[in-house]
Amino acid sequence: MHAVYVFDAYGTLFDVHSAVSRHAVDLGPDADRLSALWRAKQLEYSWVRSLAGRYRDFWDLTVDALDFAFAKISSAPVAMRETLLEAYHTLDAYPEVMDVLAALKQGGAQTAILSNGSPKMLEAAVTGARIADLLDAVISVDSLAIYKPDPRVYELVTNRFRLFPASISFQSSNRWDIAGASAFGFRTVWINRAQEADEYADMSPAVTLHSLAGLPAA
Ligand code: LAC
Repeated sequence: MHAVYVFDAYGTLFDVHSAVSRHAVDLGPDADRLSALWRAKQLEYSWVRSLAGRYRDFWDLTVDALDFAFAKISSAPVAMRETLLEAYHTLDAYPEVMDVLAALKQGGAQTAILSNGSPKMLEAAVTGARIADLLDAVISVDSLAIYKPDPRVYELVTNRFRLFPASISFQSSNRWDIAGASAFGFRTVWINRAQEADEYADMSPAVTLHSLAGLPAA
C-alpha cells in the first residue's frame, strides 16, 4: 500500500466515450470516429495552449474540440451538440471504480483526483458517479493555468499531501500522462484499458494493469 493514490479523471475513472455511446444511434455510422476525434482534439488543444502560453479552461477546450469534430464528420448531426455536451458532465465511471476506491480507503490510504478538468466539470463528474465520499481531494490544473504533463501540475499533489513523489501512486490510462508522472518521480500505474502498444520507453510505468481492479494488490 502507498500513502496516497492519485487518479487521472478522464479515461481512467470516467469513460470519455460514454457521452457518444449513449447517443450512438442518433449520431449515425461515424459515432465512434466522432468520439475519438473529439477526445484527440481536446488533448491536442491542451498541449498547444500550454506550450503557447494561452490557457483556456478544459471545458472550453472540450466545446472547441466537439465543434471541430462535428465540422469534420459531416454525417453526425450537429443538432446533437448540446445533448453531447450535457452528457459530458455526467460520464459513466468504469464499473470497478467505486469498489477500488473503497478498498484503498479501507486499507488506510488517501485518494485523490489530479485532472486537466475544470473544477466545475470535476465536481459534476464526481457527484454523478457518487464517489465524492471516497476521495480526499479533487485537484484541478486550473489554479496553475497549464496542463499535464507540465511538472508543476504533478507538484500540486506533493504540495497538497506534503509527501515526496515516490510515496504517491499515480494511476492513468493515458500513456503520455504516465510519462509525465514517471518523470516527476511518482510511482506510476498505467491502466492500459485499450491494450495499446507501449511508448515513451525512458518514462515507463512501474506497473501496468488492464483495469483498476488489481490496484489495491499491485
Ligand atoms: C485528465 C485528462 C488528461 O483527466 O484525462 O487530466
